Amino acid sequence: MAEIFKILEFPELDSTNAYALREFGGLADRSTITALRQTSGRGRLNRVWLSEGKGLYFTIIVKPACPDKFPFANLTQLLAVSVRAALAEIGLEPLIKWPNDILCGDAKICGILAEAVTESGRVAGAVLGAGINLCQTAAEFGELPYPAVSIAMLGRPVPPREQLLTRILRLFYGRYPGFERQGFAAVSGEYTRYFSLLGSRGALVLDGRESEGKVEGVDKNGRLILNTASGARSFSAGDLSPV
Ligand code: BTN
Repeated sequence: MAEIFKILEFPELDSTNAYALREFGGLADRSTITALRQTSGRGRLNRVWLSEGKGLYFTIIVKPACPDKFPFANLTQLLAVSVRAALAEIGLEPLIKWPNDILCGDAKICGILAEAVTESGRVAGAVLGAGINLCQTAAEFGELPYPAVSIAMLGRPVPPREQLLTRILRLFYGRYPGFERQGFAAVSGEYTRYFSLLGSRGALVLDGRESEGKVEGVDKNGRLILNTASGARSFSAGDLSPV
């Protein structure tokens, strides 16, 4: 079956996101860059993403024909539901931690990092990267700012990288036409069904300030709704954790 996406594989890169940003002009929409190892894998909040060959690392090139109407802000959530579905197919029970981490139990199995590409001050495209923990041991994760887990640590057979990546991309592009038309609304039902912390108390840290309250869900644009002591507030960014 001919695919509507193309995968470009490298043995090693500094970072698939960094490569995608450098080469963006020459890369086609729907290309995906993947590398077995990254020497400077990067995460959110300027964190390092350890990438010593035990995970799946990839970056999707997003170059919409009409960027002004494209829901860039929710791309990470589209990828989160796609990765979650792919991991569920191999027997895991993953949940999504708003906005786009994938957890198994309380530990992170996948992180997602989107970076915008701007032209003349407007967003023209994005590179959408994800790292999935495949076969690390607890000792190999070492000290991290959050608990992490791999597929192997969960006692599941680790799928071949290319097979897992292809499945994720098929799930991603299967949802893509609806997402282009409706934005977050196209995936909000699925996103909410697998929303970790829904109905629980959570603390959101944004720019060093913490807001605490009951996690009510997400609004129609995918923003987090937190019911705080001073009323319901919505957030478009931040780090959410259980209280
Ligand atoms: C996070 O902090 O949770 C986001 C981690 C994103 C890591 C992936 S691995 C592939 C791509 N290339 C990078 O340098 N980062 C992303």
